[in-house]
Amino acid sequence: MSTDAIVLLKQDHQEIRRVFRQFQQAGENATKRKGDLVDSMIELLTVHTYIENEVMYPRVRELLPDLEDDVLESYEEHHVADLLVVELAGLSPDHERFDAKTTVLIENVTHHMDEEEQDWFPKVRQGLGRKALQEIGADLIEARAKAPTRPSQPSALKKTVDAVIS
Ligand SMILES: [Fe+2]
Ligand SMILES: [Fe+2]
Repeated sequence: MSTDAIVLLKQDHQEIRRVFRQFQQAGENATKRKGDLVDSMIELLTVHTYIENEVMYPRVRELLPDLEDDVLESYEEHHVADLLVVELAGLSPDHERFDAKTTVLIENVTHHMDEEEQDWFPKVRQGLGRKALQEIGADLIEARAKAPTRPSQPSALKKTVDAVIS
């Protein structure tokens, strides 16, 4: 199994995109199914955000100072998604705003993942090389094991808050 950090993060993105597509194809009245799919999204995004915030962004920021602006923009994009995730976690699937809020979450996160994959990851790969990416990947796997799965768990937001206000 590869422990390349970028390969691991892209696998997460694929899984997230699959659930996004299932939601978009679920149909107007599939309220129960859409509720379950949003639960899956919340879990996938909470874990993914945690391991990026906890490991990937700080390591890249430290090793490649030139990419600091990209990292700071990522924190802000994750922060916007976090707000939507927190709201969705407390919203009933039959609420009139549930579909709209989920659609905005999907649009935001898709934009962010596209930017990471098309713009940021190539710069990181070029700057760090294989060995460093494998070491970071091992740390990502370790972080995943203790990652929160719901936004209500305190560790879910801490790193973003630290990054944004400290
Ligand atoms: Fe990200
Ligand atoms: Fe990501």
